[in-house]
Amino acid sequence: MTENVLKVKQKKDRYQVCYMAGDDSGFDMMEGALLVLEALDLPIDWVRADLGWCMWEKSIKKFGEGDPRCNTVPPETIQKIRDTDATLMAAITSKAGVKGFKSAILQMRQLFDLYINMRPAKKLPGIGTPLAKDQDIDIVMFRENTEDLYAAVEFYPLPEEMFDLHKGMERFRGREVAVSWRVFSKDGCERIIRAAFEYAKATGRKTVHCCNKANVIRETDGMMKRLFLEIAKEYEQYGIKGYEENADATAMWLIKNPQDYSIIVASNVFGDILSDEASQLTGGLGFAPSGNIGKDTALFETSSGSVPKYAHQYKVNPSAMVMTSKMMLEYLGLDEQGAKLEKALGEVLVEKKPGTLTYDILRDFHGDPDWEKNAASTLDMAAAIAVKIDPSFVGAKLDAAKAKVHQMCAWDEASLLGFDD
Ligand code: IPM
Ligand code: MG
Repeated sequence: MTENVLKVKQKKDRYQVCYMAGDDSGFDMMEGALLVLEALDLPIDWVRADLGWCMWEKSIKKFGEGDPRCNTVPPETIQKIRDTDATLMAAITSKAGVKGFKSAILQMRQLFDLYINMRPAKKLPGIGTPLAKDQDIDIVMFRENTEDLYAAVEFYPLPEEMFDLHKGMERFRGREVAVSWRVFSKDGCERIIRAAFEYAKATGRKTVHCCNKANVIRETDGMMKRLFLEIAKEYEQYGIKGYEENADATAMWLIKNPQDYSIIVASNVFGDILSDEASQLTGGLGFAPSGNIGKDTALFETSSGSVPKYAHQYKVNPSAMVMTSKMMLEYLGLDEQGAKLEKALGEVLVEKKPGTLTYDILRDFHGDPDWEKNAASTLDMAAAIAVKIDPSFVGAKLDAAKAKVHQMCAWDEASLLGFDD
């Protein structure tokens, strides 16, 4: 029996969950999600941690530019992720071309060996797709999360001796070249493929598609394809069928026939691209949850960006964070509460009551020319979802919850935790 890594290692009556707001509008999203979660009255003790660009700035202030201790992730945050049962994270900001800067999420994926990036793309009620036919889309992507071009084995300039390694490098000799290694390990391929099939088995899904380019990239994708076809045979007895296809074809078929896909397993880069495409078919990144899952812990994050131009203005859509929270609750075995979250969000999206939907929903799905004026704030929409879960979540009760989550997501310099030794 394979260990079910998609569930917390140890079931408990009460959990400790680390929450990290990230940067900019990440704070607004997190505040909105926590407000909705308050209405569920969960058996969760929240533990705050910080990471992202804000911590990069804090570390530079503390240690000075160029100091090796400067990082987007403070040691305190790593410790809290380690000590808690799961982590919930909003959006972080990255800036290109900053010397020494390393993405916080990429570091966490490697450090905690979070090898599964699980990305559901499910059409929510009240949210259309950009497709001609409004198909029912319900896809779960299993993206390998630690290897491939993300292994960060790169060369520039390429050391002289590397030109002798392979005859294919002959034509590059004497030229200025940059090289990034695409590294796949056998056990790395195997565990992501097994995770996808195990999920199919556990949820009654009937197909798994492996998207690769084994027709061109013989060794890495060849390995992935070979292992997939082998492992697929083991699952035939459960009525699950494995299909392998070229990833470029998948990109095309996803637009034409998205209902043909249920579970997709892909390497890191292909999964990164295909998951954005799948999310766009189901409302875009404003609705897309994502879970980084490993053997020891899991970190759930929105796929949406931190929208710096709207930072701390409570304009962003809380839906992605709500759906991300739902994934986290399922991981903790709180499936029933998770289902309530999705149901409540769906009701708000369908009812479209004035003052309950953020600007992007009015603009992109309801064609409201006055979307700016009519937009609800992140917290208004969150409160509308919360009251669907618990009708008594109004008046003083709502105000108290608002004050609590506002405090939990304070973003002034003094509130940011980390680098405080
Ligand atoms: C994602 C993002 C990240 C990735 C970036 C922000 C490093 O695109 O989670 O899909 O490339 O994995
Ligand atoms: Mg991406």
